[in-house]
Amino acid sequence: MALAARGGVLALVSLVVLFLAGPAAAAGKTGQVTVFWGRNKDEGSLREACESGMYTMVIMSFLNVYGRGKYHLDLSGHPLHGIGDDIKYCQFNGVWVSLAVGGFDGDYSLPTNQSALDLFDHLWNSYFGGSRKGVPRPFGDAWLDGVDLFLERGTPAERYDVLALELAKHNIRGGPGKPLHLTATPRCFYPDPHVNRALATGIFERIHVRFYDDADCQVQLEKTWNQWTAAYPATRIYLGLPASEQTIGYIHPKNLYYGVIPIIQKADNYGGIMIWDRFSDKRTNYSSYAKQWA
Ligand SMILES: *[C@@H]1O[C@H](CO)[C@@H](O)[C@H](O)[C@H]1NC(C)=O
Ligand SMILES: *[C@@H]1O[C@H](CO)[C@@H](O)[C@H](O)[C@H]1NC(C)=O
Repeated sequence: MALAARGGVLALVSLVVLFLAGPAAAAGKTGQVTVFWGRNKDEGSLREACESGMYTMVIMSFLNVYGRGKYHLDLSGHPLHGIGDDIKYCQFNGVWVSLAVGGFDGDYSLPTNQSALDLFDHLWNSYFGGSRKGVPRPFGDAWLDGVDLFLERGTPAERYDVLALELAKHNIRGGPGKPLHLTATPRCFYPDPHVNRALATGIFERIHVRFYDDADCQVQLEKTWNQWTAAYPATRIYLGLPASEQTIGYIHPKNLYYGVIPIIQKADNYGGIMIWDRFSDKRTNYSSYAKQWA
């Protein structure tokens, strides 16, 4: 009788295991939701974004002038005053705050090793552990959590690999110590020539793939997702989605849940969901779904 009972328990256990391993079980949930902030003044403050409780990482965008000795941060008219405190508020509440370099406008390039090292130097002293005299710190003594590469221009030969390697060297070891999370946000199709050389270093923590702005991207979602996840097994891959129904590539929450989540969470290195951007998300509340299912 004892034996039969044990057999019953075993059968139950294997049933549970089978169920958990099934494709619909979403065993890969991480709860990670990243959002971009800084592209529209009407999206509300950084603090408000963090206060919503919807995100685990906010990426400020963009530092969009660099490479020729000049640097410029474009936050679409958000007043810089107070952002330092907002960053600390976010971090205190467990939300990482990162800064994206690149973007759709501005004037940027990294033609040489030296220009890459100069950009590193600027980033380190303006936003991280550096404190060189004469280098302005727009957010005071707030120390950011990461750097994101969001490249829309340049040639495949540019030295973002040199920048990435330098940033990685300063991950903890460069100062009193705090991890520096290195991420990239490429366009959908693999590979993205703008950032390929940097990603080939294999040292990126996360890649947010932009599965929008291109109708074909949607059609080939599974194939493209598998290419990215296979190419960078040591990196967490994020599904980048628009929060606005008006963007090409918008996925209705129902399709996200039934059609897309089961596919992407099969990958061992699935990371989470990235949302473009806070302005649209505040209007549509898309992240309230993404958060439950990520
Ligand atoms: C640029 O940096 C890379 C990587 O550190 C190195 O291999 C290469 O020799 C450097 N090139 C020049 C021109 O210094
Ligand atoms: C957005 O979603 C959150 C979480 O489900 C909810 O509490 C909030 O009321 C929603 N806001 C709007 C404007 O729909």
